[in-house]
Amino acid sequence: MYRIIYMGSSVKLLEENEIDSLLKHSRRSNINNHITGVLLYIVGDFLQVIEGEEDVIISLFEKIKKDSRHKGIICLFSENVKEKQFSDWSMGFHMTNYEKLIKDTGYDTLSRIELANIEDKTASILLNTFIKSNKDSITFW
Ligand SMILES: Cc1cc2nc3c(=O)[nH]c(=O)nc-3n(C[C@H](O)[C@H](O)[C@H](O)COP(=O)(O)O)c2cc1C
Repeated sequence: MYRIIYMGSSVKLLEENEIDSLLKHSRRSNINNHITGVLLYIVGDFLQVIEGEEDVIISLFEKIKKDSRHKGIICLFSENVKEKQFSDWSMGFHMTNYEKLIKDTGYDTLSRIELANIEDKTASILLNTFIKSNKDSITFW
């Protein structure tokens, strides 16, 4: 199994219907390709984890990087992993903000720049901690 965690910034604040259509397309395509993961929308910034077969994940990430809806893509984690962490979610989604991210992960400060500079293992831990404490408000279909 392979996992990529990346972040990027939306080129504009997305309307609800734009998020809906992004999720609808992604979820359908992820189910077909046995991809799972979570997308966080943090006031205009995306933080996403995608996991699945290595070649499938790498080629999806190539596509995502070219998507004109976001820019400034930074890969935080890209590694082989033993197993999927989000095997139930074709694309879990949650909208949040940096204050909430700080509160739920125990960081003193956390901005887009700080998040973009964290080390790969830390990115994974941070995301898992946040997702665990928000499990009930993550939408997955
Ligand atoms: C923040 C973000 C996350 C995305 N996540 C996924 C995803 O998990 N799966 C997916 O198939 N497409 C995802 N996309 C869409 C892809 O970038 C691309 O538009 C889509 O895969 C193209 O699909 P097509 O080849 O069927 O036209 C995402 C786009 C953005 C902006």
